[in-house]
Formats: sequence, C-alpha cells, structure tokens
Amino acid sequence: MAIIIDGKAIASEIKEEIKKEVLLIEKQYGRKPTLAVILVGNNPASEVYVRMKKKTSEEAGINSMQILLDENTTQQELLTLINQLNADNSVNGILVQLPLPSHINENDIITAIDPVKDVDGFHPVNMGKLVIGQQDCFIPCTPYGCQELIIRTMPDIKGKHLVVVGRSNIVGKPLANLMIQKNNMANCIVTVCHTATKDIGYYTTQADILVVAVGRANMITKDMVKKGAVVIDVGINRIQDPANPDKTKLVGDVKFDEVSEVAYAITPVPGGVGPMTIAMLLKNTVKAFKLQNMK
Ligand code: GUN
Repeated sequence: MAIIIDGKAIASEIKEEIKKEVLLIEKQYGRKPTLAVILVGNNPASEVYVRMKKKTSEEAGINSMQILLDENTTQQELLTLINQLNADNSVNGILVQLPLPSHINENDIITAIDPVKDVDGFHPVNMGKLVIGQQDCFIPCTPYGCQELIIRTMPDIKGKHLVVVGRSNIVGKPLANLMIQKNNMANCIVTVCHTATKDIGYYTTQADILVVAVGRANMITKDMVKKGAVVIDVGINRIQDPANPDKTKLVGDVKFDEVSEVAYAITPVPGGVGPMTIAMLLKNTVKAFKLQNMK
C-alpha cells in the first residue's frame, strides 16, 4: 500500500516556520505582513476557501483583510479597489478569489494587481519570471504546494518524468514550467496532457510523478498509473456519497483506493494539496513583505 502524503501535517510545519519568520519581521520592522483577500459574489466553495485563508493567515500571525463584494460589483469598481490597495503601503499581498462573476474579465483584474503584491503569481510579469527562472517572482500557490509535497516524498527528482494532466493557468501551465527549471527542486522531464490528448493512459503510465488537475472525479484509475509512482491529486470534486446517497463527499481526480495499491505515495482528498495551497500563500505573503521592504 502507498504512503499517504499528509499535506495537512506538512502545511502545519510550514505555517510554524512562517509564524517564526513573522515574529522576526515584526521585531525588525514594527509591523506584520498584510494580506488583502477579495471575494466577489457568493460562490459557496470560494467562500470556504476565503474563510480558510483568513483563519490560516491569522494563525501564522499575518494580518488578514477580507473584502467581500456584492455579486453585482462592476469591473470598474473592482479595478478602483485594486488600485487603492496597490497604492496602500500597509498592504503587502492582494488576492482576488477566482472564479469571478462572468461580467468581469479575469485577465483584466489579474493584470491590474501590482506584480510585487501578486501573491497568487498569476500576473503575466510573475508568470514570465517563473518561465525564465527569475527568483524575484511569486510562484502560484497550488503548483508551489505540489512541488513541496513532491520533493519531500522523492528527494532526488533530477531526470524523473513528471506527467501533469491539465493545462490550466492556475495549475498545469505553471507547474510544468516550475518543474523543468534547472535546480534541485525540479529538473524533471515534463509532459503535459490535456483535452486534446487521445490516450491519456499512454502518458500517465510513463510517469514517475503524476500530477492530476482536471476537476473530474475519479478519472485516474489503477491501470493508468506506473507501479511505484508518486501521485499528486489536485482535484476537489463534490459527489454523491456511494455509501450514503443522501449525502455528498469530496473526492479527487484520482481513484484513491485502487491507485494506492500501485503508487509509492499518494495525496488524499481532502488533506493533501488543499492545505498546502494556503501554506504557500502565506509564504508568498512573507516574500511580498520582504521584496517591498528590501531597499
Ligand atoms: N481559485 C481556485 N484556486 C485559486 C487560487 O489559487 N487563487 C485564487 N485567487 N483563486 C483560486
């Protein structure tokens, strides 16, 4: 049976490290890093994520500003708010929770955030810096968390074949770019599968490290995984509980029970990648504070 990668415990360790770092920052600068999180509308999943981000930030000693806006907020109103936060020196990180209501253009919003406060790492400047391997950027939190889980599970990953299923701007694309970098935390051979891939199993069975981020419940089955692979499941899908049809449950994109019979190690859902994403957001917020106060 596979090792179950405990994302919750690892995230907790990272949070403790950040807590110590925040205390040092407070001693040196007399203030704490501050993160502003904006939520537009009432998407229930987003509401849960935003609440978790606030709670975890505060546990690590980071100041948390939560800005909850009505579903009907206009793009211009949101842009005005972002400009105010960009200009506010007491705010170090700005995160706009996605998805946004359909009348708002996500790219316009992401591009309006000052790149040095873009703790999500979605701004084209940060994406570009990630691609060319520049260190003064923010790595998107979910891929960053996946990388941390991978290297803690498989310390020598040089030359390993990493297959990522999914090419989103939030996970697949940044992860692929992160893991081909020439450094000790990456240096992998990377294959990206997506909706135009005819036989996904042909690729996934060649993966030493398999990362799945598509948002389709239980799509990766045992026959699609190489024996001894490290499997990272980014999916969070709410389905009807087969054991209790009146209830729902959260599952990943990987069929956990059967894949854990062949994998070397696997992340659970929940308790795998999810908590890591927030831990890396805190790390990025501390980095934002440092980048803004270095001069
Ligand atoms: N929605 C799903 N994942 C993310 C994320 O990492 N950041 C933001 N801002 N929204 C998301």
